[in-house]
Amino acid sequence: MRHIHIVGIGTGNPEHLTVQAINALNAANVILIPSKGAAKTELADVRREICQRYVTNRATRFVDYDVPSRQTAERSYVQSVDEWHDAISATYERLFLAHLGEHESAAFLVWGDPGLYDSTLRILERVVARGNVTLDYSVVPGITSIQALTASHRIPLNLVGKPVQITTGRRLTESFPGLAETAVVMLDGEQAFSKIDDPEAYIYWGAYLGTRDEITIAGRLADVSERILATRAEARARHGWIMDIYLLRKGQDFDDRE
Ligand SMILES: C[S@@+](CC[C@H](N)C(=O)[O-])C[C@H]1O[C@@H](n2cnc3c(N)ncnc32)[C@H](O)[C@@H]1O
Repeated sequence: MRHIHIVGIGTGNPEHLTVQAINALNAANVILIPSKGAAKTELADVRREICQRYVTNRATRFVDYDVPSRQTAERSYVQSVDEWHDAISATYERLFLAHLGEHESAAFLVWGDPGLYDSTLRILERVVARGNVTLDYSVVPGITSIQALTASHRIPLNLVGKPVQITTGRRLTESFPGLAETAVVMLDGEQAFSKIDDPEAYIYWGAYLGTRDEITIAGRLADVSERILATRAEARARHGWIMDIYLLRKGQDFDDRE
């Protein structure tokens, strides 16, 4: 049976790779490298750098592939993602049949951790469900952008004994400041923090975390919101793309002590 290693690679710093990840990459016959168009070239470069640095198995074969882009016209968000996942799963199926012998293995280098806002696992399940190729798969955990953010700011993720909500920009107002003292916001194309009007909220923001271009800003939201917006816009224009994440916090350790 073919085997697929789904390897978390951390978020931009090649030193985020775990020993388990390095071993999985060296165990694979084929390493699959996505090239997702111009904006993602730098991410493909990080993957190549990781392979150059850690793959010592001379028999490893490297295969580049194009990731289909998501079509959004005249579709709901759910329809669009569903179709997109189907298209990617068809790409995976073709890759496995074309490049993997029946008892060989391949590795995907997944940004951060494969379990956090990533669909590689879901898409592989679609490949399995279609039944045209038999395979099994295993997952190597990776350092997430959440850990990269809290480490860069030298803060704990949670307040003592309190919950954390992980959400997207689109849904931020459902959870913060009402539901959770800490909200981590990912995939925010609309800078939802700028719509939160709460004088007690703090923000810890980071872009390109783990890379040479890392930027971080922290402070009382009302004081730094404008600076983050300007810094983000300038960096996005300069790089042609941006990946950013932030943690919003209200309250302090032990502030609910009876
Ligand atoms: C599709 S999700 C992938 C998350 C990834 N699996 C992880 O474990 O962090 C992409 C989002 O993760 C966040 N992200 C990933 N890498 C990042 C980085 N190096 N710096 C800042 N944010 C990052 C951003 O919020 C981005 O929109």
